[in-house]
Amino acid sequence: MALSSESASAVATAPEASAPILDVSNIEVIYDHVILVLKGVSLAVPEGGIVALLGANGAGKTTTLKAISNLLRAERGEVTKGSIRFDGERVEAMSPNALVTRGCIQVMEGRHCFGHLTIEENLLTGAYTRSEGWGAIRADLEMVYSYFPRLKERRSSMAGYTSGGEQQMCAIGRALMSRPKMVLLDEPSMGLAPQLVEEIFEIVKSLNRNEGVSILLAEQNTNIALRYATYGYILESGRIVMDGDAKALRENEDVKEFYLGVGGEGRRSFRNVKHYKRRKRWLS
Ligand SMILES: Nc1ncnc2c1ncn2[C@@H]1O[C@H](COP(=O)(O)OP(=O)(O)OP(=O)(O)O)[C@@H](O)[C@H]1O
Ligand SMILES: [Mg+2]
Repeated sequence: MALSSESASAVATAPEASAPILDVSNIEVIYDHVILVLKGVSLAVPEGGIVALLGANGAGKTTTLKAISNLLRAERGEVTKGSIRFDGERVEAMSPNALVTRGCIQVMEGRHCFGHLTIEENLLTGAYTRSEGWGAIRADLEMVYSYFPRLKERRSSMAGYTSGGEQQMCAIGRALMSRPKMVLLDEPSMGLAPQLVEEIFEIVKSLNRNEGVSILLAEQNTNIALRYATYGYILESGRIVMDGDAKALRENEDVKEFYLGVGGEGRRSFRNVKHYKRRKRWLS
């Protein structure tokens, strides 16, 4: 798909207005030594910001997040070029654990919870990098419950028997138990009813505001992501094809046509030329 060569960033305020907590510069990612998936991706997240990484199936969103959190190696993936700085430090060579200890954690796509553990036990597993005593961890558990009252109600239910929305909340709550400065959130809207998606995004927004947690949000659901983020990047086939303030992107004709589904004709043709592995939620 060809987006306008005129980037929305031309009119946007760059996100570097405050010092970036995350700075990804020109990274290339290769799987299995041969499959080139990211072809020079650069992005920045300002401290305390919410930034959206948008794109259709297979664009490379999850790969980008895993490159940052160093989870690629487990999938035979490798960052072969470029640099990643988190909180002023180069982090490409760090283990995922070292990164969690420094305050950067990923919430995986598909709401990974331990199905045979209770909600509360799941949340407690999120504190594994913490060295403080039980008191501090208990207080953070209460903090998570204050943001997610539903989790408090279901605290002793086995996670595997809770709803999809509750599992997504549990996955986010579990990440919060590591006391992160930044959360990489991979498709929190996936497979959830619109009302629940809204509820989860509202909670993420208040976490961002009240706790100062910076967020990098990978989403196919462009509509909701651009309502909550302040800045967005659009990925296609491993390249950033457009970036800009969320407002500028929402008003951009190409984004409207191809990603927000309000362009009528264009929406149909875009649907025709792309093959998807699953339902295109970003058009909803
Ligand atoms: N472990 C892997 N080995 C080889 N190729 C992979 C691997 N993981 C992902 N890919 C390929 O990399 C590309 C990007 O995938 P990625 O999962 O990052 O996309 P995405 O934007 O997160 O898509 P989705 O919206 O479907 O989650 C795809 O073409 C995918 O097939
Ligand atoms: Mg993905």
